[in-house]
Amino acid sequence: MDLHTNDSSESAAGVFVSDKCQIPVGGIPQQEPDRQQYYMALCRQKVQEISDKLGRPLTCFISTFGCQMNAHDSEKLLGILLEAGFVEGTSEESDFVLYNTCTVRENANLRVYGRLGYLHSLKKKNPHMMIALCGCMMQEPEVVEKLKKSYRFVDLIFGTHNVYKLAELLEQRFETGKMVIDIWKGTDKIVEDLPSERKYTFKSGVNIMFGCNNFCSYCIVPYVRGRERSRAPEDIIREIEELVKNGVVEIMLLGQNVNSYGKNLESPITFAELLRRVERIEGLKRIRFMTSHPKDLSDELIEVMASSKKICRHLHLPLQSGSSEILKKMNRHYTKEQYLELTERIRKAVPDISLTTDIIVGFPGETEEDFEETLEVVRKVRYDSAFTFIYSKRTGTPAAAMENQVPEEVVKERFDRLLAEVQAISAQVCGRDVHTVQEVLVEEPDSHVEGLVTGRMSNNTIVHFPGGKELIGKIVKVYLKESKGFYYMGSLVD
Ligand code: 5AD
Ligand code: SF4
Repeated sequence: MDLHTNDSSESAAGVFVSDKCQIPVGGIPQQEPDRQQYYMALCRQKVQEISDKLGRPLTCFISTFGCQMNAHDSEKLLGILLEAGFVEGTSEESDFVLYNTCTVRENANLRVYGRLGYLHSLKKKNPHMMIALCGCMMQEPEVVEKLKKSYRFVDLIFGTHNVYKLAELLEQRFETGKMVIDIWKGTDKIVEDLPSERKYTFKSGVNIMFGCNNFCSYCIVPYVRGRERSRAPEDIIREIEELVKNGVVEIMLLGQNVNSYGKNLESPITFAELLRRVERIEGLKRIRFMTSHPKDLSDELIEVMASSKKICRHLHLPLQSGSSEILKKMNRHYTKEQYLELTERIRKAVPDISLTTDIIVGFPGETEEDFEETLEVVRKVRYDSAFTFIYSKRTGTPAAAMENQVPEEVVKERFDRLLAEVQAISAQVCGRDVHTVQEVLVEEPDSHVEGLVTGRMSNNTIVHFPGGKELIGKIVKVYLKESKGFYYMGSLVD
């Protein structure tokens, strides 16, 4: 039986065919999420049997690479593993180890291959150990070929479109004892209502859409995450209402380009309209979202942000390059002037907003003049912080085939100059609220100093101040005593 018989997926590479003779065919639910609940129950039995034999619980451990989307997927994967009978372990010396991979830059891939060697040595010591790989890197056919050939000790390989199927795939692995591979090229399917194990009780990510249609010429994401699919607004609202009932006060709406949310729904709605609806959810205190593409950021969205009591004063607005020439080659659909004009409009409407960004250095053909233009935008916009990346050539993207790849030493030198500029500005900008009282959502005990807690302001700046664990998950007023450049030291007000 092909693993895909019941799915609308398009294709699979090297799918294992299982003999499920003990399971009555009529007994396997065809609908999701019932089908996965069924497989979770089956896995629970298997995990229990091994656990009884060993006289200890079986542990699982997930290591997440990459972005917030992956972090959120990992919460779902952990939810499934706990339902399947594992307990959460603390390190890779666990019985089930899953790497949720990223492939946005080549370094991310190299790190995974490096770590697999270590996992192999652990597996030799623990014959019950299972190694699983999922996420963006697995959507690259060359990667899967390499794993099939040279990393035979990996037990389970799946991609970005079928995260929800972990229990079903795990059950296949238990049944067969062989490597199970299930990669889909794409999907139009969104499965709701599966378990999820949130890292924080008081804040949560919420997917509003999957995939990306933008095809920026350097970026591999559209190839590994597929075409844009938006979740129905009712499903999103229902999920947030449920989260709020369970103690969540802050949500982060997640999508590769949230500004094009809703365009392909049966009854299209805008992202701004979705925000208006989310704002009405009682008990929800803070709304964040990530990521916004400058080309689609509407005036309607700016208005909603300006009038909202809940949307946080932070906007991540990837610039990528300050040169209109390079932006064109990047297929970004805006010029330097349009970007600057947009940031001015935003600042006018929401004066206390924090702007952050992503910048790539060393895109093919980038000249010293192009790079100077990036520095100019950085100086004009004065970002609170910027993620700076060295351009990484991703096979299959249009940029990989472009001429004039910039020599490594030139890119390095530019990268260092950019970083110095970004950090100097950030140190000035981030301190602007010193000696004021701000609302802070307390997130965790301070990891360095006992007796302190760490929280986040609406604009995403971190604050450390004296306080106990009972404050975690609460929004409290904090006096910002001292700016330390990228964070504040404060004291609780009342
Ligand atoms: N090389 C370097 N950085 C990249 N990014 C995406 N693709 C590449 C690449 N090939 C960066 C972009 C994006 C962020 C998530 O990663 O800046 O906004
Ligand atoms: Fe990649 Fe561009 Fe899509 Fe962002 S918008 S995920 S950079 S293709």
